[in-house]
Amino acid sequence: MQKFITFEGGEGSGKSTLIKNLANYFDENGVDYIATREPGGLDVCEKIREIVKYSKEELTPQTELLLFSASRAQLTHDVILPALKNGKVVICDRYFDSTRVYQGYCANIADEVVMNITNFATNGLVPDVTFFLDIDPQFAFERKGGKDKGDRIENKDFSYHQNVRKSFKLLAQIDKRFVVLDATKSEKDLLNQVVLVLKNKKII
Ligand SMILES: Nc1ncnc2c1ncn2[C@@H]1O[C@H](COP(=O)(O)OP(=O)(O)O)[C@@H](O)[C@H]1O
Ligand SMILES: [Mg+2]
Repeated sequence: MQKFITFEGGEGSGKSTLIKNLANYFDENGVDYIATREPGGLDVCEKIREIVKYSKEELTPQTELLLFSASRAQLTHDVILPALKNGKVVICDRYFDSTRVYQGYCANIADEVVMNITNFATNGLVPDVTFFLDIDPQFAFERKGGKDKGDRIENKDFSYHQNVRKSFKLLAQIDKRFVVLDATKSEKDLLNQVVLVLKNKKII
C-alpha cells in the first residue's frame, strides 16, 4: 500500500512545524519515512525555485504553473516515487494542491488545465491523505512575528491570502482525500490529530 502524506495551507499556517513534530514522532516510533519539500534538495529544482522566487520579470501564471510542474516532475521521479516503492511513508510539505490554489484558483487557470499538466508531471501520483492547515492569514502573519523575507508570493496583500484560504477550503470540500485541521490549535493537539488519522487510515 502506498503511503503518501501531504501538508497544505497558507504561509505561516504551521506546515513545517507540524511536519517536524510528525517526523520526531516517526523517529521515536520506528516508522520508516522520508520528509521532503519542493525543491527537495535537487539541483535542478533549486534552480527552478530561484527563477520563480526572484525573477525580475513578472511571471505569467502559465509560466509559474509550468515551472512548478517541471520541478515537481523531477522531485516525484527522483525522490518521492523511489521512497514509496521502498515502502516508506513519504511526507511532503506542499504538493500539487498548492499549484491548484496559487496558479489555479488565485490566478484564474481552470483546475482541469492545472490537473492535466499536474498528472503529466507526476505520472498521476495522488497523495493518500492531505492535511490542510486552516487559519486566518492575518493571525498566522502576526503569530509568525510579521514579515521576515521578501519573496514575491509572500509579499502579496491580505485579500490575496484570504483568497488562498478560501481556495484551499473549496478543494478540501470537494475531495475526500483532505483532512481539515484547525491550525490555531496547539502543536501537541495537531500532532495527536494527525497521528490518529494516519492510524485510522492504516498508513502507520
Ligand atoms: N500550533 C502552533 N501554535 C502556535 N504557533 C505555531 C504553531 N505552529 C506553528 N507555529 C508558529 O507559527 C510560525 C509559522 O510556522 P511554520 O511551521 O513555519 O509555518 P509554514 O511552514 O506553514 O509557513 C512559526 O513561528 C511557528 O513557530
Ligand atoms: Mg514552511
